[in-house]
Amino acid sequence: MNIEFIIDGKLIRAHKGQSILKAALLNGIDIPHLCYHEKLSATGACRLCIVKVNGMYKASCTEPVAEGIDVVTYDEELSMMRKELLEMLLAEGDHNCLYCHSNGNCELQNYCYQYNVEPPAKDLPKNIREVDLTSSQGIKRDENKCILCGRCVKACAEIQVNFVWDFAGRGSHAHLTSDMYEKIGDSSCIQCGTCVQLCPTGALSFQTVLGRGMNWELKKESSICIYCGVGCKIDFYTNKEGKLVKAMGNDEGPNKGHLCVKGRFGFDFVQSNKRLTTPLIKKNGKFEKATWDEALDLVASKFGEIKEKSSPDALMAFASAKCTNEENYLMQKFMRSVIGTNNIDHCARL
Ligand code: FES
Repeated sequence: MNIEFIIDGKLIRAHKGQSILKAALLNGIDIPHLCYHEKLSATGACRLCIVKVNGMYKASCTEPVAEGIDVVTYDEELSMMRKELLEMLLAEGDHNCLYCHSNGNCELQNYCYQYNVEPPAKDLPKNIREVDLTSSQGIKRDENKCILCGRCVKACAEIQVNFVWDFAGRGSHAHLTSDMYEKIGDSSCIQCGTCVQLCPTGALSFQTVLGRGMNWELKKESSICIYCGVGCKIDFYTNKEGKLVKAMGNDEGPNKGHLCVKGRFGFDFVQSNKRLTTPLIKKNGKFEKATWDEALDLVASKFGEIKEKSSPDALMAFASAKCTNEENYLMQKFMRSVIGTNNIDHCARL
């Protein structure tokens, strides 16, 4: 903390090289921003973070702190400029919140509300782009809601290191491209969903939630991913019917908010109607419903037979990532202590 400077009359200490925006946020001073995200390098694209530094206009996300500078983050002029910037962002695309899946969960919407921004004139010329609704099983892309902030581009490059997203075209024709393909499904996207999690508008959204719940109706519960040993923390969202519809990485886990495709989308089995709800025993080549007692007695007697006839090592068990940690622990305990073999494995290893 070797730099001292003033923000809105308050003395702030910051590290050399830190941006004014980062120093402000760390000190509880909120400067509006859209293209900046704490997990990504600064872009300086949206200009919403504009402040006055010794009376000069600067983008606070790219402007480093300096000894003794005097920063103003809010005044009438800055508010007017931010309002105009938001109006321009809205004018470029098609931001009808009524039909937007991010309604109620959109940073652009929040700022437009905060700055009392009116909808743009209806007759403004627009480059309407086709919505990619179906090419990807996990992600919907609606570029008409894209503000070219570049967060998805950087999320893919800097967090997932997959480099799928980029910009193509120039000026008002600038748009997102995935590996130079129009459709995400044609690209090398691995469906980690990090770009969607960091998108500040409705340009990218998760297929799992579409039509299944308004953002303000969803309930959040935190849990740990079951799939591998990292122990990623996940926020699961359920809709009014109690169905799981969305998984978001939680910043407090070792994953620091990031998820892979399994953690992000691998929860559909929980509410699959293909799940077995009663034990089945094969009789005359056909599965028939049985009670738990019947099923357990049969398995126990068969295991006993095999163990006696051959040896405990004639048996093996294969545990599942779709079970809880405790269930997997019990499975290995059962094989080692009850059956007497170390033949136990787990699908997460494969
Ligand atoms: Fe600084 Fe977008 S947040 S330019």
